[in-house]
Amino acid sequence: MVRQTLKEYRWWETGVIYQIYPRSFQDSNADGVGDLFGIESRLDYLAGLGIDAIWLSPIYPSPMADFGYDVADYCGIDRMFGNLGTFDRLLAAVHARGLKILLDFVPNHSSDQHPWFVESRRSREAPKRDWYIWRDPAPDGGPPNNWISDFGGSSWQWDAITGQYYLHAFLKEQPDLNWRHPDLRDAVMRSLQFWFDRGVDGFRIDVLWHIIKDADLRDNPLNAAWSPDQTERDRLIQVHSTDQPEAHEVAAEFRAMADRYGDRVLIGEICLPDERLARWFGTEDRPQVHLPVNFHLIECAWNADSLRSVIADYEASLPEFGWPNWVFGSHDAPRIAARVGTAQARVAAMLLLTLRGTPTLYQGDEIGIGNVVIPPNRVRDPQDLRQPGLGIGRDRSRTPMPWDDSANAGFSTVDPWLPLNDDWRVRNVATQDKDSQSLLSLYRSLLLLRRKHTPLTIGNFAFIDSARSVLAFVRQHDDQRLLVTLNLSDQTQTFSPPSNTVITKVLCSTTTLRPFDGMLAPNEGLILQLKEQH
Ligand code: GLC
Repeated sequence: MVRQTLKEYRWWETGVIYQIYPRSFQDSNADGVGDLFGIESRLDYLAGLGIDAIWLSPIYPSPMADFGYDVADYCGIDRMFGNLGTFDRLLAAVHARGLKILLDFVPNHSSDQHPWFVESRRSREAPKRDWYIWRDPAPDGGPPNNWISDFGGSSWQWDAITGQYYLHAFLKEQPDLNWRHPDLRDAVMRSLQFWFDRGVDGFRIDVLWHIIKDADLRDNPLNAAWSPDQTERDRLIQVHSTDQPEAHEVAAEFRAMADRYGDRVLIGEICLPDERLARWFGTEDRPQVHLPVNFHLIECAWNADSLRSVIADYEASLPEFGWPNWVFGSHDAPRIAARVGTAQARVAAMLLLTLRGTPTLYQGDEIGIGNVVIPPNRVRDPQDLRQPGLGIGRDRSRTPMPWDDSANAGFSTVDPWLPLNDDWRVRNVATQDKDSQSLLSLYRSLLLLRRKHTPLTIGNFAFIDSARSVLAFVRQHDDQRLLVTLNLSDQTQTFSPPSNTVITKVLCSTTTLRPFDGMLAPNEGLILQLKEQH
């Protein structure tokens, strides 16, 4: 189907998603942890920024062993964040501003405190026993197979009460659900329905590619390339524990449910190479998720050659009906500004918001929070605590949002659960709000440009020739053409537009707006308006 006008696209294709890590966005009740009232109080900021949808990391009741990704009740709100009443208020307030709200949905595993697991664990005969994955020990008494948890150590936890092991792809406090069991499937589907009925606009589905395991639970092959500076998980190649054919069937069921509700979106967290990632779109007749998350920019080396090939390969891998998406940061990944530096963080912002596809911004990246060093006695991330010294800690990306230079950066009236970024007195929302040259102001301008210039949302995408350290591409819709040219180096570069075109206007610069003179300043990105020359 060829679509001509903006109106033919869906909101999640043209819109920009903003990820909120609720624990660290805004505290309203002086416990040092963010909450739903806090988020509500910052909605004007988000609307003013120019995003279209917010995605909240989990807010369900949870013992917080993995900070909410261990869900004890799929249909409630943790007291720390509020309750169903405060959620409904937030939902209404989000919708009143014309924004959408997405929840995080964690179907691969629950908390070990979930009543389902409590019952499953009680006895081998318990009706819900097989809602989880229980196995007898191997002949030597050890775990049933060689699988390694993503957080290190065996994926199997011995349970003395019933004399079997249970499977957990993450913490032992996060037992994996058995998606081969029809009743479990129904029960989780009902929880999706619960939130759709309440009015949420979609879900980000946690570790979707993990959801079903090999029926025979065969050993995973060893990874010959493993070295001790890698995580324990990487000792094996997760051939049998992830990305099973049956998991695609589950994704299609999620999609069928979402489609019954109309214009909702499903975003699947899937860490796979292009070709396998693209399969999660499903087929046009039997679609799976709308947006299988594309993490490639997070993994890509920061130079023009690598970016060019990652972008080209991803574009080439998409099925005809598949809509692209891009992300530079999350609550799991290192901060983009820490990776590429302050100057290139501006170039990254321009790239993210001008590529073809739906961008997701991660809270705090819009003000360029960089590397936050977490003192050892304040480390909270269970992954880091279990595998110290590898530099994989996630707390550094989960520090509280610095709103202003008042006590605790306006995040809370008490000491927050994680330390703030060291430079919070200068790097905060209020300071950058007043500064027209700040990264925040650049994000706002870029988001506004996306809204104003149709090529940036629905235009097609083509690379054009440029110097080695420059990434340049054209976005075109009808006869409107925008050229994006990004200097990935800290040297001045020359740049000329394609032959038979002229530049009619400079719409945005990551450095200083000025008429185009054939030069890109160090670390400069430009958005230029192009016209054909006859
Ligand atoms: C996802 C989440 C991560 C969590 C893990 C287990 O990758 O993003 O934060 O620890 O799943 O639920």
